[in-house]
Amino acid sequence: NKRITKTNQMSRPVQKAELTRLTNTFLHVPNLHWLVVEDSAQKTALMSRLLENTGLNYTHLNVETPENLKTQKKPRNARIPRGTMQRNLALRWLRENIDPNSSHKGVVYFADDDNTYSLELFEEMRWTRKASVWPVAFVGGLRYESPKINSQGKVFGWRTVFDPRRPFAIDMAGFAVNLQLILSKPQAYFKLKGVKGGYQESSLLQDLVTLSDLEPKAANCTKILVWHTRTERPLLVNEGKKGFTNGSMEV
Ligand code: UGA
Ligand code: MN
Repeated sequence: NKRITKTNQMSRPVQKAELTRLTNTFLHVPNLHWLVVEDSAQKTALMSRLLENTGLNYTHLNVETPENLKTQKKPRNARIPRGTMQRNLALRWLRENIDPNSSHKGVVYFADDDNTYSLELFEEMRWTRKASVWPVAFVGGLRYESPKINSQGKVFGWRTVFDPRRPFAIDMAGFAVNLQLILSKPQAYFKLKGVKGGYQESSLLQDLVTLSDLEPKAANCTKILVWHTRTERPLLVNEGKKGFTNGSMEV
């Protein structure tokens, strides 16, 4: 996450806004445990305060993506995925903190901070035996991408334009995995290196399931319950070099 040096805030300018919006969604979801992984060397005060004030059930973790793996160049290098180390830390936390013999029930979903999530989505994913899938709006240059479902209700391919031959041609927002499956396959992680653009999701799912394991949700993938919205970067041109506004104001 890009640093703003002229203020005290060590984050992207829109970070607090996005997390506020996400928090407001999560507050409507029963039985939620939020593993928040900050992309930073230290846990920030901004994030700690925000989480404390929500009343949500959360665990605050952090790991900084090393500079050489960050996406800074424009156009961004599609081979360098975002949030990968953070998701892997969350997977490790689950394996280190939940006893696989405890029959602890749960479903793991990788929620980016900037997407739009319907509350229905969280109800749908509760009934995930292995991995469930559904369409995601506004990805891959389409109104939506979707798994292809046959008359038996099984996934047999992917309705995408971008590389439909990927083992799992699905955005991060389009699937959830049963916690017990995550615990039973302790070697399953997102691959950091040698992963082609768009193959990040496949790099984890390949270790966990096969196509025939997938459980279509959202009325057999006929409904949109999540939107891959992205936040416009605010133009702070009038801040000037020194910064016009009070740098100690948390935004
Ligand atoms: C798309 C997918 O929806 C993401 O799930 C995927 O990680 C990403 O592409 C990718 O493979 O690079 P996109 O909207 O392009 O998403 O990416 P962002 O929303 O900017 O980033 C995804 C997540 O990673 C966000 O939760 C963001 O806060 C986090 N992130 C981003 C970091 O932790 N560190 C960063 O340096 C950048
Ligand atoms: Mn995004």
